Amino acid sequence: MDNRFILDPKLASASTPPANWYIDPAMLIHEREKVFRRTWQYAASLDLLTFPGNYAAVDINGIPVVLVRGQDGELRAFYNVCRHRAGVVAHGCGNRKSLQCQYHGWLYGLDGKLRNAPEFDGVENFNKEDFGLIPIRVGTWGPFVFVNMDASAPPLLDVLGNIPVETNSLDFSTLRKVERREYVVNANWKVYIDNYLEGYHIPIAHPGLFKEVDYDKYRVDTFRYYSSQYAPIRPVRTEDPAGRVFTELIGDEQAFYYWIFPNFMFNTYPGNVQINIVVPVSHNKTNVIFEWYFADPGTSEAWKNLQDGIAFSDNVQKEDMTLCEDVQRNLEAGVYKQGRYSVKRENGVHHFHSLMQEYLDK
Ligand code: FES
Ligand SMILES: [Fe+2]
Repeated sequence: MDNRFILDPKLASASTPPANWYIDPAMLIHEREKVFRRTWQYAASLDLLTFPGNYAAVDINGIPVVLVRGQDGELRAFYNVCRHRAGVVAHGCGNRKSLQCQYHGWLYGLDGKLRNAPEFDGVENFNKEDFGLIPIRVGTWGPFVFVNMDASAPPLLDVLGNIPVETNSLDFSTLRKVERREYVVNANWKVYIDNYLEGYHIPIAHPGLFKEVDYDKYRVDTFRYYSSQYAPIRPVRTEDPAGRVFTELIGDEQAFYYWIFPNFMFNTYPGNVQINIVVPVSHNKTNVIFEWYFADPGTSEAWKNLQDGIAFSDNVQKEDMTLCEDVQRNLEAGVYKQGRYSVKRENGVHHFHSLMQEYLDK
């Protein structure tokens, strides 16, 4: 299969990527190397790593990583791969003074340095200093920890651009993670991202959501490494039938929907935050992780709003999963070549495809 595809940088004359982009298993191998290993990847929530000695072993798109809060208070990340014969140095999460490989017991400090290699006397040309855990870049924003395996990638805060400023009315310190759900979608991860990045399908595919948002005002703004969706809540009118989920935002209250290249979404609404991490499992299977953070979910009214919000989002997610799985099946049917983009509604999808092309060609 030939996956070469030159995207027209001009939205109005561009064609969408060919089916091979979404159905060829070789494409994912290429994307893992060129995209997922070169971009900031969400790794864990910061509350797992509050105290010196806290560690968390995580899988980042098939790459084992361990996050550690050192005795010096510094947050570090390493490949979770022992320098002896590639054993695992940490499982799960917890609090330790050091990390010991589970295979032959090599012992590493929380700074990654190899402290002890048992029964290694007599080994020639062996310096412990040369066998520390291999560090990778780590960055935090609010309650989120990210890692990047590319030493030359732009810093996390450069990638996030204006997002931290635009969302500075959020008080992260009051937000608590209250729910995590994982959805397995039988579709390529890019089919899922494409779907997230446009509101074009809302009138037909999300009747419940269509009642809530002011579709005429809906728009997607694109930036260097992210895009944001402006989706104002429709004014609640007295004649509205029962069943409106979202109340109109008042004063300077704002909702934000950000997508950060390639696979992280950050959605806010006054008093709560929802993140989505889109993890490819194979070329046609994707794990989508949802986490909800709420301020003050303790009161009964807040609790009900929280549950209503989660149920509403769960419903929209199921509608999107059906759309994505239908598309994947049709892409694999061998009849689709390429399509076109709506200039008014699909600029965010074209922006994503442009970034993919830029990274795949690098
Ligand atoms: S593989 Fe880690 S101690 Fe042998
Ligand atoms: Fe959708």
